[in-house]
Amino acid sequence: MRPYTKQHTSAWAAKIASLDAFVFVTPEYNHSTSGALKNAIDFLFREWNDKAAGFVGYGAAGGTRAVEHLRQIMGELKIADVRAQVALSMHDDFEGFSSLKPRPRQENAVTAMLDDLVAWGQALRVLRA
Ligand SMILES: Cc1cc2nc3c(=O)[nH]c(=O)nc-3n(C[C@H](O)[C@H](O)[C@H](O)COP(=O)(O)O)c2cc1C
Repeated sequence: MRPYTKQHTSAWAAKIASLDAFVFVTPEYNHSTSGALKNAIDFLFREWNDKAAGFVGYGAAGGTRAVEHLRQIMGELKIADVRAQVALSMHDDFEGFSSLKPRPRQENAVTAMLDDLVAWGQALRVLRA
């Protein structure tokens, strides 16, 4: 609830309020997103409303279950989430499970996600005006 009482909340709110759309990059822990990301999301509400989001997941299985959980959360925040997403496999898109080395096809995936995200982010400005 506003007004915020902590400087870090105000700074986070100002950053999110300044943006039309978001790319959430999430690892997968026990079939969900990270607690740290969920906590950061939960600090705000109105700053997220009527904006757009896309996702990059990573994990042993591409972070797809983490992204599915995030999609459920987006509805509650009134964020429109685009269908296209990037699923990075720790086995196939990283070297030694640590250095990002995406397969060439991931470029198409990220382009598709960003194209939709930019379009939706701009379209929703009308609603926020
Ligand atoms: C406690 C724990 C649970 C995990 N659970 C999953 C999982 O359910 N699915 C998956 O694909 N990867 C899982 N992983 C692998 C992580 O996604 C992988 O280690 C990833 O690098 C974590 O991202 P981070 O190092 O940026 O935090 C798990 C890792 C840990 C340590």
